[in-house]
Amino acid sequence: MSKVKAAVFASGAGSNFQSIMESSNLPCEISLLVCDRPGASVIEKADKLGVPTYVFNPKEYGSKQEFEGTLVSKLQDLNVSWIFLAGYMRIVGPTLLNAFEGKIVNIHPSLLPDFPGKDAIGQAYKAGVKKTGVTVHYIDAGIDTGPIIAQESVEVLENDTEETLKKRIQQVEHQLYPKVIQQIVK
Ligand code: GRF
Repeated sequence: MSKVKAAVFASGAGSNFQSIMESSNLPCEISLLVCDRPGASVIEKADKLGVPTYVFNPKEYGSKQEFEGTLVSKLQDLNVSWIFLAGYMRIVGPTLLNAFEGKIVNIHPSLLPDFPGKDAIGQAYKAGVKKTGVTVHYIDAGIDTGPIIAQESVEVLENDTEETLKKRIQQVEHQLYPKVIQQIVK
């Protein structure tokens, strides 16, 4: 039997995309990497892994509704049923949300509801918290507000810099995201 199909959306380096691709026993096939930033390193990673890419520039569209409409058709043509956001730096609008209700998941580098939005690691570091972490959650119309699926905490050490903290948080992300995907994809 063929596996359920999924797409990963990313805008940047793509370390989470890579960890999903490299995880063993992935319950779905990653049919497409969607990227909204032409030139992002994640595109090269997908090429190397042989994952088809769909790269677009939002500025070339009149509205979010327009580019999300194109994405929905593309994903439906491929029979994609899950979307995993992995560093996709854009708020998902109603066009995508309605077409993939309950099937869009995000990873965020903090213990939500703390430190939503951009630069969550920097926000936590500057706030001087002793503990931060990683959250995987379903998305809704808000910014990092949807129902939480899993969280793992990461201690902030005495001698941490923002960089060392980021490194440890990303290590946790790379384990947690594939694990959650295994749990939820049926
Ligand atoms: C990750 O920290 C993720 O939690 C956040 O954006 C970052 C993406 O990193 N949403 P990468 O592109 O997967 O390396």
